[in-house]
Amino acid sequence: MGASRPRRSCLAVPGSSLKMLDKAQGLPADQVFLDLEDAVAPLAKPEARKNVVAALNDGDWSGKTRVVRVNDLTTPWTYRDVIEVVEGAGANLDCVMLPKVQSADQVAWLDLTLTQIEKTLGLPIGGIGIEAQIENARGLVNVDAIAAASPRIETIIFGPADFMASINMKSLVVGALHPDYPGDPFHYILMRILMAARMHDLQAIDGPFLQIRDSDAFREVAKRSAALGFDGKWVLHPDQIGVATEVYSPSQSDYDHAELILDAYEFYTSAAGGQLGAVMLGDEMIDEASRKMAIVIAAKGRAAGMSRTSSFTPPE
Ligand code: GLV
Ligand code: MG
Repeated sequence: MGASRPRRSCLAVPGSSLKMLDKAQGLPADQVFLDLEDAVAPLAKPEARKNVVAALNDGDWSGKTRVVRVNDLTTPWTYRDVIEVVEGAGANLDCVMLPKVQSADQVAWLDLTLTQIEKTLGLPIGGIGIEAQIENARGLVNVDAIAAASPRIETIIFGPADFMASINMKSLVVGALHPDYPGDPFHYILMRILMAARMHDLQAIDGPFLQIRDSDAFREVAKRSAALGFDGKWVLHPDQIGVATEVYSPSQSDYDHAELILDAYEFYTSAAGGQLGAVMLGDEMIDEASRKMAIVIAAKGRAAGMSRTSSFTPPE
């Protein structure tokens, strides 16, 4: 189940805001993550844990993946976050997000702790997934080991704001291109995360874009990670949800084309179609690799509930 959950839009909801915990339930995001980390001030953290448990247990999150972001393991808060939230609402929680992950042993700690709590509560062992956020150089260098550290891991997430700070990047605009750099300064980081995620059949998720009133700029940033293969992106405001849903779904024409390739290739490789391995579909030559690419696009379209607007007709 885990890695196949839709996560085109992952909505950040501060655990200290009762108003936003309530409002988020009515918004059409694929995933919500109730935050105990950077959106919650240190003095508000104990209260936020209680709000998050109550919201998970009493709220209506139907149709959404429910995640809680705990504090990172260099803080004093992490163990209490995990114990309070999972003991209090483990049956109503899909994943725990661990931020600023730096090494595989941090994921192993969370895995063991979740197992302990699941055993205590009689929940299915391994039922709660882990989302690992990569936010500094150490995390990126160790990302392969992190991705392999637990069967609970469902996603590797890029945390661009913390990452930019950690590598001394000379910009304050998260995820955006830089006028002094003739390329995308985030390309290597995104690709590195994507390779680690795909090696372990995990989803790759892009992080936040902070200029929440600029939907066009959000779309531009999202399009770049979607083009590489990322599965979704964080959204910080309701206006960003629709854009993310659209950008991380295939276009109608790409979806139709992918389904057409699958049907055509199935026909042409069959006895009735002449058992051909490489064949022309219109002006395009398709073969087994085309089928593999088409499977990816078709799967994304089907997961998004898209319908075909064309069909394949075998030649007479
Ligand atoms: C998100 O947590 C980020 O640091 O970008
Ligand atoms: Mg961060």
